[in-house]
Amino acid sequence: MTDAPIIAQKAPYAIECEAGKSYFWCACGKSQKQPFCDGSHKGSSFTPVKYDATESKRVFFCGCKHSAKSPLCDGSHKTL
Ligand code: FES
Ligand code: FES
Repeated sequence: MTDAPIIAQKAPYAIECEAGKSYFWCACGKSQKQPFCDGSHKGSSFTPVKYDATESKRVFFCGCKHSAKSPLCDGSHKTL
C-alpha cells in the first residue's frame, strides 16, 4: 500500500460535463478510464472524489493526481 498517487498524465483531462450528473474522479491514478474511477483503487488508501456538475460545461479534471483542488486541475502538474 502506498500513499503516493500514480501520475496518469501531467496534464488535465478536458471533459464535457452535463448539469445534474455526478462524476467520480480517480484519485489513485490507476484507473484505465481516466480521469474517472474504474474501481482499480481497491486495496489502496485511495477513494474516488465525487464531482457534481451544476452546469453543463467543459471541466478540466486533474490527470497528475497532485492537484490541491482535486478533482480539478490547479496547475500543480507543471511543477512535477
Ligand atoms: Fe483510482 Fe478509483 S480507480 S480512485
Ligand atoms: Fe493535475 Fe493539472 S493535471 S494539477
